Amino acid sequence: METWSYTNENLEAITQSLNIQPDDKVLAVCSIGAQFLALLEFLKGSGLLVAVDYNPQQLDLAKTIVDIAVRRDARALARLDICPRNQGYFNRRRLKRIAMNMPKVRFMQNDLRERLEIKERFTKVYLSNVLANLNALAEVVEKGSLIYLAYKNHRGTKITSKKGIENFIQYYYGNRFADLALSDFYAIDVERTFKAIQLESKKPLTEGGFFNPMHVPWCPLIYRRI
Ligand SMILES: C[S@@+](CC[C@H](N)C(=O)[O-])C[C@H]1O[C@@H](n2cnc3c(N)ncnc32)[C@H](O)[C@@H]1O
Repeated sequence: METWSYTNENLEAITQSLNIQPDDKVLAVCSIGAQFLALLEFLKGSGLLVAVDYNPQQLDLAKTIVDIAVRRDARALARLDICPRNQGYFNRRRLKRIAMNMPKVRFMQNDLRERLEIKERFTKVYLSNVLANLNALAEVVEKGSLIYLAYKNHRGTKITSKKGIENFIQYYYGNRFADLALSDFYAIDVERTFKAIQLESKKPLTEGGFFNPMHVPWCPLIYRRI
């Protein structure tokens, strides 16, 4: 099983599209931890965040990143380069807010293709590019909630209009991504999706790493649970 030491996604796209509110109940794919730490900054009060991953080694690795964030060691985080597309993101000011919110975090080992045995009902979901079982997920997501899913843009299509989003979805509908296509439970939030695509296309990885820059940016889709 592959273990990730950095995110190849753009943190600004994730945080701005999900528009986290203080009391949100967030379910977030764990990965290296950069994404859920970025979301954690905006919680307060009764807000909580469950970081989920099916890979136990990945959860352990993210916990080491959490330890560094709790120490507010911005330099150590910068050296680890966990978010190369947003270098310098975890500055001391941010880390202070994130560290204060750490008691709101719970880790969970679960395969997102399966049902989540959890009593929480989530109001925001960050799926990274995990091809989760969205129908099963609907059971633990409150109506009206936003879900961020980073599609891999296999065709490298440039989406420059809202109509382009429709074409993109139609292209994928009915093929192997059919389980992720629109169902009775979800609708695409076109405004938010368009903004997310624009944000995600900023600061692509152009050097280092093994990612072909053609595969980045992702094409994030913002679903709304209906
Ligand atoms: C899909 S990977 C890709 C990397 C991602 N784009 C990023 O920037 O971090 C992200 C994380 O999802 C986890 N993952 C993949 N499939 C999963 C599944 N079915 N259920 C739960 N976690 C999964 C991986 O272990 C990994 O930590």
